[in-house]
This record gives sequence, C-alpha cells and structure tokens, in this order.
Amino acid sequence: MGAEPTFPKGDLMKGKRGLIMGVANKNSIAWHIARQLHAQGATLAFTYAGEALERRVRPLAESVEAELLVECDVTDDASMDAAFASVKDKWGELDFLVHAIAFTDKSALEGSFVANTTRQIFKDTMDVSAYSFVDAARRASELMNPGGSMITLTYLGSERTVPNYNVMGVAKAALEASTRYIARDLGPRGIRVNAVSAGPIKTLAAAGISSGKHMFSFNRLASPLRDDTDPRGVAGAALYLLSDLGLSCTGETHHVDAGFHIVGMPDEGALKE
Ligand SMILES: NC(=O)c1ccc[n+]([C@@H]2O[C@H](COP(=O)([O-])OP(=O)(O)OC[C@H]3O[C@@H](n4cnc5c(N)ncnc54)[C@H](O)[C@@H]3O)[C@@H](O)[C@H]2O)c1
Repeated sequence: MGAEPTFPKGDLMKGKRGLIMGVANKNSIAWHIARQLHAQGATLAFTYAGEALERRVRPLAESVEAELLVECDVTDDASMDAAFASVKDKWGELDFLVHAIAFTDKSALEGSFVANTTRQIFKDTMDVSAYSFVDAARRASELMNPGGSMITLTYLGSERTVPNYNVMGVAKAALEASTRYIARDLGPRGIRVNAVSAGPIKTLAAAGISSGKHMFSFNRLASPLRDDTDPRGVAGAALYLLSDLGLSCTGETHHVDAGFHIVGMPDEGALKE
C-alpha cells in the first residue's frame, strides 16, 4: 500500500456506538471503515480473532480511542456469547455493526471449484463467511434500537464466476441472500442491513487467492474508472449506510469497485497495461 489514506472529519456518527468485527491489521477493510467512522465521531469496539492478532489490533484500536477490545472466534458459540456479553456489559446497547469476516482453506482458492471443494471445506467456508453474519446480526439486533444499522462485506464473485474465488463466491452469494433476509426480519424494528461489494483491495484475505495479481489488473483495466478500488470509497459507502445518510436504504448490495460490475465486455485494447 502507498501512503496511509486520510478520511473526512465530521459528526455524522457522533453519539453512535458500534462494534467492528474483522480487523486483522492496518490493511484490513474493516480498519479503513473504522477510521472513517471514528473521523465522523463514532465510539468503537473491536473484536479480534486470536492472540496473535491481538498484538496487531490493540495498537490500532487504541489509536482510535476504542472503548472495548475483545477476542472473538465466530465459529465458536461460547466465544460469540462472551464477545456480545462484553458489549452489553460495556454499553448496554449498540447503534451499528460492521462484519468484515471471511475464511476458507487456501487449497480451495485455486484451480477447479468442483474438484477442490470438499464437504468439510464447503461447510467451514459457509460457517465463517456467511453464517457468522446471521449470528452476529441476531446478537447485535438484541442490543439495537430503531435507527440501528449493520453492514457486511462481499465481492462480485457471488454473482459472476471469478477464477480461483470458487467456494468463497458461493459463500458470498449466501451472505448477500442472508443480508436480504436479515433486512426483511429486522426492518419492522427500524434496523437497516446492507452489504458493500468491494472490488479487489490488497489485504491478508486477498493475498490468499491464487492469481490475485491478474484479478487486480483486470479489474483496473476493464472498469469504467480504469482504476483500483480505493479503500476510502469502501469506507465512505460504509459511512453512508451506517449513518442517518442511509435512511430508507436496506437489503441492498452496494458495489464499490470502480464500476467493474457493470461491464459485460471491456473496450477493445483495454486490457493492455
Ligand atoms: N480484499 C478484498 O479484495 C475484498 C473484496 C471484497 C470483499 N472483501 C471482504 O472483506 C472482508 C474483510 O476482508 P479483508 O480483505 O479486509 O481481509 P482481512 O484478512 O484483513 O480480514 C479478514 C478478517 O476475517 C477474520 N476472521 C477469519 N476467520 C475468523 C474467525 N473464525 N473468527 C473471527 N474472525 C475471523 C480475520 O481475523 C480478519 O480480521 C471479508 O469478508 C472479505 O471477503 C475483501
């Protein structure tokens, strides 16, 4: 990554308290979102997945005056119980949730989807990358009042086939469908639920995908904006959806990908660097 991105300051999130799930390091999409929300006055809590990551996440959380930092493995009910109990003890209520979590076995992110997706890999990928949002949304909603808002992070590999994305694309399709069903269930309580579909961004998770370099250059060259996806745009979309700017918007999958998703066929010659 180049220079550290900066985020517009303001008070769109003033008085709002939210939980950020999915920061692994300073390149994490959830961290860009957290910085944008903090710059707009939000009070934050973070989860981290395991001791090794705590060392990276703690200084980041401290730099945005986070009020809570708690371990959470989304595949473990006891860990989810404890994390949400900590949020309840600390604040009693919650205004927003950011879910930016996905994982699959590296062996499933290369080659043939049909050949490489074992039953266990399919189940585990679905559990971490799709069910965890259903579970977190239910728990978060118990702490939310009308006006609450939550988002998850997805990718175009849910709608179209992308080389090597494989089972993760299937999990993202389930995540997006889950977003719509959660939005339907929580809508009558005044809680909004949306997904941000980001184009490729250099993070730990993206590094696991074979031919990631091709993915980045194809997205850049074929997209209408002829550019990489800027994490500030993803953070801006999160701010819109989580603040009152996003009133009346729910169940949506909002693309932030330099327009790549609208292209059926790139311009002649566009794919030459
Ligand atoms: N990087 C991209 O190009 C891109 C594009 C679109 C969508 N996304 C999505 O954005 C989200 C965040 O990914 P990222 O790219 O910032 O990468 P990242 O590696 O920084 O974040 C992934 C996070 O998932 C967490 N996680 C994995 N297994 C977990 C578990 N069992 N319990 C709790 N947490 C667990 C990791 O600790 C990490 O914080 C993911 O859902 C990813 O699919 C990424």
